[in-house]
Amino acid sequence: MSVPKLSLSDNSEAALAKTRAEVVIVGTVQGPDGPELADGAEAVDAAFDGTLAEVLTTLGATGKAEETVRVPSLGRLSAGVVLAVGLGKPDDLTPERVRRAAGATGRALSGRKRVLTTLSALDLQAAVEGTVLGSYGFTAYKSEPGDAPPAALEVAAPAEGTTRAHKATLKAAGAIAEAVIVARDLVNTPPNDLFPASFADRARELAGAEGLDVEVLDEKALKRKGFGGILGVGGGSSRQPRLLRVAYRGAKAKKSVALVGKGITFDTGGISLKPAAGMDDMTSDMAGAAAVLASVVLAAKLKYPLEVVAHIPLAENMPSATAYRPGDVLRMYGGRTVEVLNTDAEGRLVLADALTRACEEQPDYVIETSTLTGAQKVALGDRTPGIMGSDEFRDRVAAIAQATGENGWPMPLPEELRSELDSKLADLANVTGQRWGGMLAAGIFLREFVAENVPWAHLDVAGPAYNSGGPWGYTGKGGTGVPVRTIAAVLADIADNG
Ligand code: BES
Ligand code: MN
Ligand code: ZN
Repeated sequence: MSVPKLSLSDNSEAALAKTRAEVVIVGTVQGPDGPELADGAEAVDAAFDGTLAEVLTTLGATGKAEETVRVPSLGRLSAGVVLAVGLGKPDDLTPERVRRAAGATGRALSGRKRVLTTLSALDLQAAVEGTVLGSYGFTAYKSEPGDAPPAALEVAAPAEGTTRAHKATLKAAGAIAEAVIVARDLVNTPPNDLFPASFADRARELAGAEGLDVEVLDEKALKRKGFGGILGVGGGSSRQPRLLRVAYRGAKAKKSVALVGKGITFDTGGISLKPAAGMDDMTSDMAGAAAVLASVVLAAKLKYPLEVVAHIPLAENMPSATAYRPGDVLRMYGGRTVEVLNTDAEGRLVLADALTRACEEQPDYVIETSTLTGAQKVALGDRTPGIMGSDEFRDRVAAIAQATGENGWPMPLPEELRSELDSKLADLANVTGQRWGGMLAAGIFLREFVAENVPWAHLDVAGPAYNSGGPWGYTGKGGTGVPVRTIAAVLADIADNG
């Protein structure tokens, strides 16, 4: 799916009278005596002679978060319908509440081609991201795709700020939404069509369009260079592994950031086979790879003054006669050995190789993300990424993740877990002997492959990257695009503050 054409309109009665939009979106809040109109709805209300809140009350609206109510305009506006969405209680209207309400409108557009939102008066970026992402659908495999997302989205300008600033925000928001969509599309593409070589082809297309360098190491190159982790995990599949390096170098690059993303195009568990129930969710096990690919392309689109290099290990974890076994010892890139005690703890093995390679280039920061552990879901649930890494940078990334609404939370790497990864015959084992603290143990394993003194963050998005429940806010079923917006915001923050 692509992003609708975005344009800025002034939020006046005159502009409303002549918009070509079929639907105009307004916000409502929960007042003490029923719904009240949110800022931005003034011109629409004027067309209703100040009766819009009353009309909404009559229709049963309350203003509660994500409630949508349609009002026919009956000639009062050129648009046929006003779509009102609840923002909840009027206090503390955070950007994320605007984004989720906008998402609910995106889900309620039912095939309209041109839409105007006034939620942008509250928060321009959140309104754009929410509306676009809420209307996202993945229909590539449907014979009858159903309602398409809108082709054009007009956004009413906020009262404060200059048109120039608004245009810049609009551009950034559109590009960020597009990056999230790129990641969602990749996650939603089924594993029979998305495997290491085909992912590499998609990366070449996406990155090539921005003029980025893409290097693809195939199985022969991986063997020559000694990428034992990636080869071990990928060896069970007829579709051989790859390692991608996608590089963007901005003019006046002040800092370099390495992005590393787990790209298991399907995770059966390997010889340590997963149970059948829910195994299909493992189509999402390349969500980290999708997120970092989308992010490096985004960095190029928005011309961040940074060097951003994405390292993407791709493998399919299958059981077969050529699969690696529990008990095998792998020689990782860089020479260290790992005893495999469970072939289902494969993500950390491919990531170890990629992290070592990323650190060879001495980046200023390393951000790695992966659908790494079921333990992340046990600890934090489906909507809260676990963020580990070096203390300061971890907290910085977590604070930014909170601000974006992706809501990552800082987690520790308790020192006592390190010895649990000692191996009887190799330098390290890939799992501990017990299941407690599984998310943290995986983080400790990864830390072994990050160069000392590099600020690094590990974002475990096992739950948040994939929505197997119903739609909410701007998140539909399937790939969510998490943590693209966090990575984008961290890159922007590094560009601004070093
Ligand atoms: N890809 C899974 C983690 C996962 C689980 C992602 C659920 C999304 C939803 C990962 O490779 C895995 O299998 N991890 C094991 C590790 C264990 C063997 C130490 C797990 O979490 O069970
Ligand atoms: Mn696994
Ligand atoms: Zn996995």
